[in-house]
Amino acid sequence: MATTLAQARSVLADAGAFGFPVDVSRRSDPVVGTRDSSRPEPFATLPRESAAIAGEVLAGELRSSTKSDGSGEYEAMQLLRRPVARATAAATLGAIDDDARNEVADAALDWVDALGPVIAAPAPPYRWSRARRQEDAARKSLEGRIEALGDPTPARTATMLAAGTQVPIAAGAWLLVALAERPELQERLAAGEVEPIWVVWEVLRLTPPTWATARVARRSLDLAGVRIPEGGVVVVSPLLLGRLPNLVPGGDGNPHQQLARLEVERWRDPHVRPGAWLPFGLGASACPGRSVGLAQLVALTKWATSASLHLAATPSTDQTRGIFPRPARIAVVRVEGGNT
Ligand code: HEM
Repeated sequence: MATTLAQARSVLADAGAFGFPVDVSRRSDPVVGTRDSSRPEPFATLPRESAAIAGEVLAGELRSSTKSDGSGEYEAMQLLRRPVARATAAATLGAIDDDARNEVADAALDWVDALGPVIAAPAPPYRWSRARRQEDAARKSLEGRIEALGDPTPARTATMLAAGTQVPIAAGAWLLVALAERPELQERLAAGEVEPIWVVWEVLRLTPPTWATARVARRSLDLAGVRIPEGGVVVVSPLLLGRLPNLVPGGDGNPHQQLARLEVERWRDPHVRPGAWLPFGLGASACPGRSVGLAQLVALTKWATSASLHLAATPSTDQTRGIFPRPARIAVVRVEGGNT
């Protein structure tokens, strides 16, 4: 486990020394090795305009997917599925009509769903297993739809859509839980005393959906004083790094207690740069959709501000793919004059 930012940086930024593991399953004796000796070009970072589009689409889709007066009880992951998938598709695919975008978004959700059992399996499922065949079919269907739009690299775009769908849905579900647990924070947001982006960073600090990522040493090497053998697996955890007092402001006094708490005020100082705990990764594999993801979460926070949210069930943490809250049952009561 990389326990300092310096170690985490070395592991994620030095693709010559560390590669992606060939086996990301949960078994205790994983197949050791890297799967990316001829790694393709890194994904290009999506531009700011894409982020603006994503925020707009998400806000519109949330309004139309909540019940007519905006009130009701929703499972957070379910509520966010289509709005996030459509917002990410709009940001990734560029100018296409809404029907085509929505079809691609649904196909991306199908692939994400089919990937679930493959990722959660205790050992990698065989090529001809039911889980693999379903996943393969869903991926091909998505790629086919993307290709029909004239995209020259449908496989890469499909990966972009899948990566940009499940993770922001999980992040958004954590955000709704955090707000629903804190009526006073909702009030301060509604009164304009708290900026939505502060809430977003705090939620990404305490509950980063990609709570851990692993790399394998390509050769025997020294990592900040620790000997790692060839094939050694090193885990980098944004969840852990987000509790280090040197990376997060406001850890004075007893930092362990301070940093375990959701405290949005720590981001009030404009000179403090959030994200040192790497919720979007680092290096060649860093998230190309960072600004799109942040725009979606800010739009979600604004949407939530115009309603009153309460927890309708006690949430727990599902670790079958990254971390996400389940159940995350949120009662939404529309506030007079709000725009839900
Ligand atoms: C809050 C939202 C998001 C978070 C927290 C997030 C987080 C991350 C992290 C931590 C990684 C690196 C994983 C690793 O090193 O193993 C990553 C990679 C990636 N993300 Fe995101 N992401 C978000 C949104 C998005 C969106 C909206 C898109 C696309 C529109 C996207 C596309 C990708 C892709 C394609 C990769 C793989 C990059 C590569 O392997 O070269 N992400 N993301």
